[in-house]
Amino acid sequence: KLADLKGLRRGRLRLGVMTTATYVAPEILGAFCQRYTGIDVSLNVTNRDQLLERLCAQDDDLYVMGQHHDFGQEVEAVPFAPNPLVMIARSDHPLVGQPGIPMSRLADEDLLLREPGSGVRDAVLGHFARSGVEPRVRMQLGSSETIKHAILGGLGISALSLHSVRLESGGGRFAVLDVEGFPIRRRWHIVYSRSRELSLVARTFLDFAIASEPDIRAQLDEAMAALRRVSGLPA
Ligand code: PGA
Repeated sequence: KLADLKGLRRGRLRLGVMTTATYVAPEILGAFCQRYTGIDVSLNVTNRDQLLERLCAQDDDLYVMGQHHDFGQEVEAVPFAPNPLVMIARSDHPLVGQPGIPMSRLADEDLLLREPGSGVRDAVLGHFARSGVEPRVRMQLGSSETIKHAILGGLGISALSLHSVRLESGGGRFAVLDVEGFPIRRRWHIVYSRSRELSLVARTFLDFAIASEPDIRAQLDEAMAALRRVSGLPA
């Protein structure tokens, strides 16, 4: 028991997250560090493919990533908060406010896409493929932040994690398009290797993160409502 308490007083936590989780993980981590002072934390942010490499190399204690990789028996994946993808346009885009936009309509739109290795990219391309629509890819960009600015620059539309536009959702510059099949519903998982016992700190953080899920869901609902308001869509 004493050793346990010491573990929480002085431990170390290495967290690896996909870029979409950068919009959530630091706040959970901050609250965690406030509760458990004295813990050394590191946060490594990469796209899905690079995160899978970190998982294989056991670089971090815990990972926040999607579910649909074939992890096999060596990996535990605990379902975590939703990570929906929404189609985002600049608020003066002609499709803003139109209800039920068919996927085929997007064939004529410039699409901004993340880099190869990105989970968001694969989810978006998969949705286009299933809809039988060839996307017109205008640019490939290495981060959601760059894509957001490219949208504001009028370079095109893009499917982004709702988390990544949460802070700007009520600001009036971004709108959500009511496209068939969107939002694409996905969720994060907190993932760790079974081959090594989780440290007390990592277990404690896992429980702490899971407990924050209702707040994260509420923030998402609020962001979606704000975007729909900006877009003139019914709540
Ligand atoms: P990523 O994030 O695009 O940075 O790999 C993955 C995801 O949210 O699926």
